[in-house]
Amino acid sequence: MKRKFFPAAIAAALWPSVSALPAQTPAVVAPAAIQTQARESPLFSARGSQFADSVLKLMTLDEKIGQLNQSPGEGSQTGPRVPAGGEALIRAGRIGSFLGIWGADYTRGLQRVATQESRLRIPLLFAMDVIHGFRTIYPVPLAEAASFDPARVEFSARQAAVEATAHGLHWTFAPMVDIARDPRWGRIVEGAGEDPYLGSSMSAARVWGFQGGDSALGIGAPDALLATVKHFAAYGGAEGGRDYNSVELTERTLWETYLPPYEAAVRAGVAFVMASFNDIGGTPSHASDWLFGDVLRQRWGFRGAVVSDWGGISELIPHGVAANRGEAGILGLRAGIDIDMSDNVYIDSLGAAVRSGKIPQALVDSAVHRVLRIKYALGLFQDPYRFNDVARERRYTLAPEHLVASRLAAREGIVLLKNSAKTLPLRKDTHTIAVIGPLADDRRSSLGGWAADGHPDETLTVLAGVRAAVGPSVRVIYARGSPVDTADTTGLAAARDAAAQADAIVLVLGETESMSSEASSRSSIELPGLQLELARAVLRAARRSTAFVQTDTTPKPVAVVLMNGRPLAIPELAREAPAIIESWFLGSQHGAAVADVLFGDYNPGGKLPVTFPRVTGQIPIYYNHRNTGRPSDTANHYTSKYLDLPSSPLFPFGYGLSYTTFAYSNLHLSSATIAAGDSLEVSVDVKNSGDRGGDEVVQLYVRDDVASVEEPVKRLVGFQRIASRAGDTRTVTFRIRPQSLALYDRQMRRVVEPGTFTVFVGTSSDDVLTAHFTVTGDVLVLASPPTRFR
Ligand code: NOJ
Repeated sequence: MKRKFFPAAIAAALWPSVSALPAQTPAVVAPAAIQTQARESPLFSARGSQFADSVLKLMTLDEKIGQLNQSPGEGSQTGPRVPAGGEALIRAGRIGSFLGIWGADYTRGLQRVATQESRLRIPLLFAMDVIHGFRTIYPVPLAEAASFDPARVEFSARQAAVEATAHGLHWTFAPMVDIARDPRWGRIVEGAGEDPYLGSSMSAARVWGFQGGDSALGIGAPDALLATVKHFAAYGGAEGGRDYNSVELTERTLWETYLPPYEAAVRAGVAFVMASFNDIGGTPSHASDWLFGDVLRQRWGFRGAVVSDWGGISELIPHGVAANRGEAGILGLRAGIDIDMSDNVYIDSLGAAVRSGKIPQALVDSAVHRVLRIKYALGLFQDPYRFNDVARERRYTLAPEHLVASRLAAREGIVLLKNSAKTLPLRKDTHTIAVIGPLADDRRSSLGGWAADGHPDETLTVLAGVRAAVGPSVRVIYARGSPVDTADTTGLAAARDAAAQADAIVLVLGETESMSSEASSRSSIELPGLQLELARAVLRAARRSTAFVQTDTTPKPVAVVLMNGRPLAIPELAREAPAIIESWFLGSQHGAAVADVLFGDYNPGGKLPVTFPRVTGQIPIYYNHRNTGRPSDTANHYTSKYLDLPSSPLFPFGYGLSYTTFAYSNLHLSSATIAAGDSLEVSVDVKNSGDRGGDEVVQLYVRDDVASVEEPVKRLVGFQRIASRAGDTRTVTFRIRPQSLALYDRQMRRVVEPGTFTVFVGTSSDDVLTAHFTVTGDVLVLASPPTRFR
């Protein structure tokens, strides 16, 4: 992935106060290690390795296994705490890391026990799911992906790292980069959607952001957070979209579609990889030496450490590949899982397995070596309290510059799905605005799932955002309408009344945050509960009251704001509602960002990172499908389609409108013919043909027209989010490199094949200009086949 830096001017504007900070305050944008031009990440340094060797020599087998044991914290009134007996285990060297425990002061105390009261004084690691922010919450990853702005996403991750490390954390379990083509799967909200190229861009950006630089170069600074790419591998392929379910994939689809974002994270220098709960074709990831050995370490050269998912090692028993915990532990370690998260399998059984010769001690040693190297890289052996500075904690908790950036990120993730007759933006000089809907004032949902230490009471809902935007002179009335997912009709009448009284209506519909994320799959992705009835009632009331109060024919504006963690199937709403904004879950500043868009203070420019089906039964539907021998043709009965549905989605991948319009012209290729191995330049003129400034995501797709294997109808290979003023024309250029043209041939070699290619450039995956070029010469082999899946 090519790294694009967040524009310096914007960064500077966001940090007016940085230069005024005390000298010891860590750098906010690039950690200290970067600024001192480190040549090699401490994560991979020879010194770190020697140091780990020397500590290993001093350790007993039990102490070694202790380093591989990760223990969960428990919630309490005063924040997360170690479970009863935890301190004694630290003292005995039986715990190497914690998850879900934070606090500069509290973790200092635990670090003190580890480094002063245990025999070898090895410091602890503190980990947590900092998925889209720690206390300041940024948009959920699916919404961040909708920005198509990796530099922005890197920036959010950087700030999240600054805030999390100030609270004593060293390590996050993010980014989650599982490609998902089935929106029933609730965890689609945690990733970047359906496309491997977009997913890889987001994956690398988030690793750079958390870790504070490329190639793990930032690690070692006290505000660099170790990242974990997860869930390896193909967790998003869960059959039927049911969480934790089995995955059935061809090797080709695994390599083409699912593996690239993990590889992008490895190339970006990610410190950890987390195993996934699923099996692929009968091999559970936690037992797959192919995934962690052949693919991760040998083919990709990964040098960090591997952590299990929660309880994933003992789940090898219900998977049916281990008879008991002892066998599960052996399988896990042999597969290459270094750290056992919250399962106690390693601590309970590996000692006996080594002593009885069932597993070589060398396997334990190399896992411990990796853990020690990481602790060394963070500087914890020199100063275990580097992440325990309460002044820093105070300084960065909900720092004003974090909240500003969260709002900017939130605005960029919003997608305008419909805007008939320029319903939006709404006017602020209105008499009465009705904000209606069960999610309109739902603070918890505004934050989104996996909101770390995000506090609902520090979050702006749409209702709060609208109120703040229009000020006290406008009357804002609120009606909840119906609940999100029960059949309670008692609020409908009040919603109708509110709609009738108002001059403009904002109707907030969708899912609560708990309807997506882990263990939150839905069998139907239609609007839950009575929300469609609510929408019908409000739209009807709006129409009737327009006719009553107005003599002209301008309809009363109704804008639907969707909140959801997955695509929703909303064909009726898409037909009937005059305007629809997709706002996902945008974090701390949700309502402010939505209000910015509703009232035109910000012109939306996000695009869908995932296809929106018409109905649940259309799943799986994704833009980069294969053509089949009988592509859908309404004029021909014997083609690939449903009798009762159009073949197209409701909204395609890459789709999103703006308050302005963009006209594409002059698609130009630098050459009509290139040799295999050469690059090609593509340019296109994009004119802002409307009446206001705005952002556009210019998208580049390719297709190998005739290849040795069937290629997708198109594949995203580039995108650029550009800003332009009304009337401006910008020439956007892309370079297509051999990698973008490559496919896995029948021998699974990565090759560029000669022949004709189609280039597509446009505003969404189904609205493009096309051009053609030819690759000449022999087949170019870029990479030899991977070992066969096993
Ligand atoms: C289980 C989830 O699958 C994983 O994503 C998460 O990091 C761990 N639990 C720890 O919370």
